[in-house]
Amino acid sequence: MDRHHSSTDREFNPETLALGYGYDPSRSEGAVKPPVFLTSTFQFESAADGKRFFELAYGLDQRRPDETPGLIYSRINNPNLQMFEERMAAWDRTAKGLVFSSGMAAISTSMLALLRPGDVVLSTAPVYGGTHYLLEHILPTLGIEYRAIVAGLDTAEGMAKAAAEVGAERVRMLYVESPANPSNAMVDLASVAEVANQLSEGRDPARRVITAVDNTFLGPVFQRPADFGADLVIYSATKFIGGHSDLVAGVVTGAEDVVGAIGVYRTILGTMPNPFVGWLLQRSLETLSIRMRRQAKSATALAELLNDHPRVRAVHFPTLLEEGSPERALWKRQCTGSGSLIAFEVDGGEEEAFRVLDRFEVFRLAVSLGGTESLVEHPMSMTHADVPPPLLETFGVTSGMIRMSVGLEHLSDLRRDLLWALDD
Ligand SMILES: Cc1ncc(COP(=O)(O)O)c(C=O)c1O
Repeated sequence: MDRHHSSTDREFNPETLALGYGYDPSRSEGAVKPPVFLTSTFQFESAADGKRFFELAYGLDQRRPDETPGLIYSRINNPNLQMFEERMAAWDRTAKGLVFSSGMAAISTSMLALLRPGDVVLSTAPVYGGTHYLLEHILPTLGIEYRAIVAGLDTAEGMAKAAAEVGAERVRMLYVESPANPSNAMVDLASVAEVANQLSEGRDPARRVITAVDNTFLGPVFQRPADFGADLVIYSATKFIGGHSDLVAGVVTGAEDVVGAIGVYRTILGTMPNPFVGWLLQRSLETLSIRMRRQAKSATALAELLNDHPRVRAVHFPTLLEEGSPERALWKRQCTGSGSLIAFEVDGGEEEAFRVLDRFEVFRLAVSLGGTESLVEHPMSMTHADVPPPLLETFGVTSGMIRMSVGLEHLSDLRRDLLWALDD
């Protein structure tokens, strides 16, 4: 299946592309569904072919128009990974995609490929605990520093100020998680990309400031950061994209030069997934839109229920943003849906949060999110345990906060379970 119908120039919608784009059944015995290419290596038809494939894979020569790089070895390329990557790139309206063995593999490989000793990353806060660990503990051992800027309406301004403080020429990446895990705080992506453009003025384009956006919570169905100027879109595909809590994977999509540079590092570091994970991800993409929309619908109903509950102090969820507020205007401008992650706070800190968490029967007490089953967890003591609690408080993550990922169970069962858990 091609990216466009032959009768028109119009590109197919991503939901349609997810069912066939990049796959030619005639090359697989007519199978409607792609087989799993469980092979470590690929046979060349001639030695000249093998030489040419390596020249392209190692960037020793430019690809000719209409030339497809040949398959070599599954650490370099594999049909199951490539089909998924092409469909993800199409969904994000970007030039290129790459799949990884985890979300953290996607983030760390991207940062290792793009950052050099002396560089500074300006990152929003909070970010997922593993990302925080990478920025706080691992990158500094390589001479790469970071500064945290609290996620919110004035993040772009905060980044511009932080750049002036550390020396604008040292800034190489603006890293944004929006909505933030776990607080759901949103950042104006277009303004951040604008700061990156200003900081890049006069620089060699190869050293421009990269805007990287972790789009795990809403993308690609409800948010497409490349439309707002992001160079790199990052996902934990373990979450909505995989969607069934049965695999661990990551993806990046973005501009050809940026994703190409990351691809070289992936090949050498070996941070790709195996072909079966690629196949599972491709299968899951077929239902991504329908799953995310249904989960968001249930989450919207549960967020309202929480908002009206006397034991709940605060609920952080997009549909509850105040009408007429700048936060709501940003959400409407940037996103096409609410997603299904709710952060809510109960009075009584950790003790009360634990009491509620231990009562759930349908919601499972487990970290992760975006799967078909509903999950609840306590960010301060679990996913974000590495970040000191006083610092988390400044990022808006309190000891009474519970993060909830709403799945596909019947809404009435979820509603009953939530009321039961909140009860005495
Ligand atoms: C927003 C976000 N980014 C990245 C990651 C890391 O992904 P993975 O667990 O697939 O390595 C997570 C995991 O929870 C996450 O929530």
